[in-house]
Amino acid sequence: MTDVLLTTERLILRQWREEDRAPWAAMNADPEVMRHFPGTQSRAESDDFIDRRAAEIASEGYGFFALEEKSSGEFLGMTGLTWPGFEGPFKPAMEVGWRLARAHWGKGFASEAASACLIFAKEALSQQEIISFTAASNTRSMAVMERIGMTRVEDGNFMHPKVDPASPIALHVLYRINL
Ligand SMILES: CC(C)(COP(=O)(O)OP(=O)(O)OC[C@H]1O[C@@H](n2cnc3c(N)ncnc32)[C@H](O)[C@@H]1OP(=O)(O)O)[C@@H](O)C(=O)NCCC(=O)NCCS
Repeated sequence: MTDVLLTTERLILRQWREEDRAPWAAMNADPEVMRHFPGTQSRAESDDFIDRRAAEIASEGYGFFALEEKSSGEFLGMTGLTWPGFEGPFKPAMEVGWRLARAHWGKGFASEAASACLIFAKEALSQQEIISFTAASNTRSMAVMERIGMTRVEDGNFMHPKVDPASPIALHVLYRINL
């Protein structure tokens, strides 16, 4: 049985594989990739993410998918859909998110994968609205949101409940799109 959930012109969004664990841990240990998160992640934390996300994909048919480049077969990072793991200043809505290894920034991969996720959310999951949020300092992530047609919620800024309020990345911005 195939583990591919979605494909685009250049990308495959699929279930996680054992061989993703090392490159996923390597990117989560990169301070530049994790700049707008509370910190870098250990191998154990990265493995735990894969375990939880793989289980979600297996049971729900969606989640934060592993992202692969079609032409090279190379693991790029993750893009996908999930339910936020906390209550924020938004009505319950599915979230679209992304994290790519630094070598794969600047090629349009995150936007291409995320756009496919929005279509999937509408057509396969019958969602009418998708949200996204990120630290207010994360301009690259906000640019992805804008590129895929999301709009910033003007009064949507919030302090992320799982981040130390004294941290410079605690303040988050909220984006949304009607599908
Ligand atoms: C957020 C993140 C995924 C954005 O990556 P990105 O490369 O800037 O975004 P995209 O993949 O959409 O690529 C867009 C860039 O590729 C360029 N590009 C090149 N070829 C392209 C193509 N064929 N199609 C579209 N864009 C293309 C665009 O011009 C744009 O460049 P610019 O940033 O210089 O304007 C990446 O910075 C990241 O993983 N950050 C760390 C994790 C993180 O913060 N995640 C978000 C937490 S909420």
